[in-house]
Amino acid sequence: QKVKIVVIGSLNMDLVVVAPRVALEGETIIGGKFTAMPGGKGANQAVAASRLGAQVHMVGCIGDDGFGRELREHLRVGNINTDYVTTVPDASSGVAMITVSERGENSIVVSPGANDTMTIAHVKQAETIIREADLVLIQLEIPLEVVEEAVAMAKKHQVTVILNPAPARQLSEVLLKQIDILTPNETEGRIIVTGQAEGDIREEAIISFLRNKGVQNVVMTLGGEGVAYSEGGSAGRLKAHTVEVVDTTGAGDSFNAGLGVYLAEGGSLEAAISFAQKVAALSVTKFGAQPSFPYRSQVDRFQDHLLIGGEV
Ligand code: RIB
Ligand code: NA
Repeated sequence: QKVKIVVIGSLNMDLVVVAPRVALEGETIIGGKFTAMPGGKGANQAVAASRLGAQVHMVGCIGDDGFGRELREHLRVGNINTDYVTTVPDASSGVAMITVSERGENSIVVSPGANDTMTIAHVKQAETIIREADLVLIQLEIPLEVVEEAVAMAKKHQVTVILNPAPARQLSEVLLKQIDILTPNETEGRIIVTGQAEGDIREEAIISFLRNKGVQNVVMTLGGEGVAYSEGGSAGRLKAHTVEVVDTTGAGDSFNAGLGVYLAEGGSLEAAISFAQKVAALSVTKFGAQPSFPYRSQVDRFQDHLLIGGEV
């Protein structure tokens, strides 16, 4: 019996160029290969969750264009239900312009397009599937009032919510209070707390601020430093895996999907984080976001040493 996950969020077409490095302002540099592939934080989480063994519904908006048709078809082929993916007339589909450097780092500019036309009504239409879900995954590439409605709807039906606050913005106290699991990285955490990406406030202070605001569980990803979490009265930390980095795009999305699937299956938060770390580690060893997300069997076979200079 598969767990049921509803992903509410964005769909983008990722237009990716590999380059020696990311260009500076005003600079032209010559890159290498160009690839277009389906992405968007919402759709990425949906694809990753489906590969990990969940039954997934996607709720979101695409434009009435070629990219939109490709984005929908790609989800369908990946066994994801698209009944609540709305084609918006006169809107263009979301697009992400991505540069991936030879070191595997990326820089991304998103044109939200249809994602920005998502409304509360789209969430209301999906109430039946949200009510029946084991868990709901949400990110911040859609309007905030839509996120707020989606969280409120999930809570009304006592469905667990993971909010991945990416890209970061400040969130209301009413929203924070309703979140079961918030998954910021350190920069996102800082923006939620202070409104600024830079600053002195660090991990522990961010986590305790969020807990004081009523967030049930905070899972903070710290890149090479691993993951710090705070749950009920306890807190913990898990080390990162060392892998050969090819492309980190979408690694956070695959982490959230792994966390969601494992929790929906009844796992503990700590075990779910450990599972999600394996998912994300596997994803960074391959090019692209969605093409790099592992299937369940690959995660179950995960062994650190195979990732260093070897085949996954
Ligand atoms: O998290 C990675 C994603 O961010 C990309 O797929 C891109 O579409 C942007 O939404
Ligand atoms: Na990748």
